[in-house]
This record gives sequence, structure tokens and C-alpha cells, in this order.
Amino acid sequence: MSSLHIEAESDQIAETILLPGDPLRAKFVADNMLEDAFCYNKVRNMLGFTGIYKGKKVSVQGTGMGMGSASIYINELITTYNVKQLIRVGTCGAIQDHLKLGDVILAMSASGDSGANQVYFEGMHYAATADFDLLFKAYEAAQRLNIQTQQGSVFSTNTFYDDDPQRWDKWERHGILGIEMESQILFTLASRFNVKALSILTVSDHIKTGEASSHTQREKSYVDMMKIALELA
Ligand code: HPA
Repeated sequence: MSSLHIEAESDQIAETILLPGDPLRAKFVADNMLEDAFCYNKVRNMLGFTGIYKGKKVSVQGTGMGMGSASIYINELITTYNVKQLIRVGTCGAIQDHLKLGDVILAMSASGDSGANQVYFEGMHYAATADFDLLFKAYEAAQRLNIQTQQGSVFSTNTFYDDDPQRWDKWERHGILGIEMESQILFTLASRFNVKALSILTVSDHIKTGEASSHTQREKSYVDMMKIALELA
């Protein structure tokens, strides 16, 4: 059995899956952090791998950028492959002054501009929320690993480029930590299908100052984020 965009056999994907936007980051996790990893998907080069972490089976699947692309993989992983815990591991642009490049955020909720949600909820505003159990376990894992995290809300946009310099002012004022592109639809679909989801995000750039991480800075903080996520398997 396979789905439209994933060619894995039905038992090849673990119940816990990490979801980076970049398929090469999925490969990085498989190559560097998992044992006995194998690639189960190459359709559209949206690589997916399953391997073992500390004795537990875990998968990692690229989703592409934006809620349109991510929602396809999230839907198929849940409805065809019976995935039960979905953990986004991605980056965000910070909009709060106190956040620094490399900071790790555990996203409690995601506001956003998903057209999918606007249509589905007929103009009402659904509060897309992470699973508390996963959030709590991720927080505990981070403490154990001595990795500092920030807990709070993020905003998921389908528009990376925009010409309004004041675009995020109201969201900053309402405490939103950072801007990314997938968590709102992840939390919404996980709730719809009664499975668990969380987003763990590394600050890759600061939207207000224009500061952005170097490649080496990124690598180290990404590994911290992945370690927290893998502990949830
Ligand atoms: N905007 C949207 N998504 C992002 C950003 C950003 O500035 N940085 C990392 N993901």
C-alpha cells in the first residue's frame, strides 16, 4: 500500500515522525542521528527515512515549504500510514527583541493565514494548539539535555515575501515569538484526526534586524532541536 505522494510499504513508517521542511535535513538526521536508517520515499525527492534512536523506531520526512505542501504529507502520513505523533523540526524568523539566533522554541500554538483553515472553518478562527503531552515531554527532555528553550506562540504564513515593513507589528505586540510556514496546519490536522503534534523551531533569522545565522551556527542548533524531538519517540 502506498499513498499518492509517499511510496513506503504500510509498515515502513514509525508511529513517531519528525517533519523538517527540507528533505536534505531529513537525510542529515537519518545519516547522523539514527541507526539502521533506510529511505522509504523518493517521490518528488521529498525524502523520508526510518531508523532507530535509542532502541526506538522513528521516522523523519521532508514536507516542503508552506502549508499547502506540508498538509499533503501530514494527511497521507496520518490517514494512510497511521502515524500517531508528528513533530515539526524547522526554523523560524524571530519577531521578539529578546530572541537570539539559534534559540529553540517549543511552539504551544500557531496563529496563521492558512487559506485552508479559512475555508474549512467558514471564516471563523480556529486556535491551532500543540499536544500538551508532547509539549511537556519535549520541555522535560530539553531540561534533561541541558538545552534552553522558549515556550510560546508562533505564526504560520503562506507568504514568505511581503513588502509591508510593519507586517508583524501587531503580532509582536501580542507576544508571537516567530514566523514560520507549517505549524498551523500541522496542529489543525493532528486535532482533526485525533493524533498528537508539536513544533520545535530554531531561530534562523531575526525579521526585525535582518540578522541571519551562518551555516555552522545553524548546524549546531539544529542538532539540539533534533535531539529534543528524537527523545519523544
Ligand atoms: N518567514 C517565514 N518563515 C521562515 C522565516 C521567515 O522569516 N525564517 C524561517 N522560516
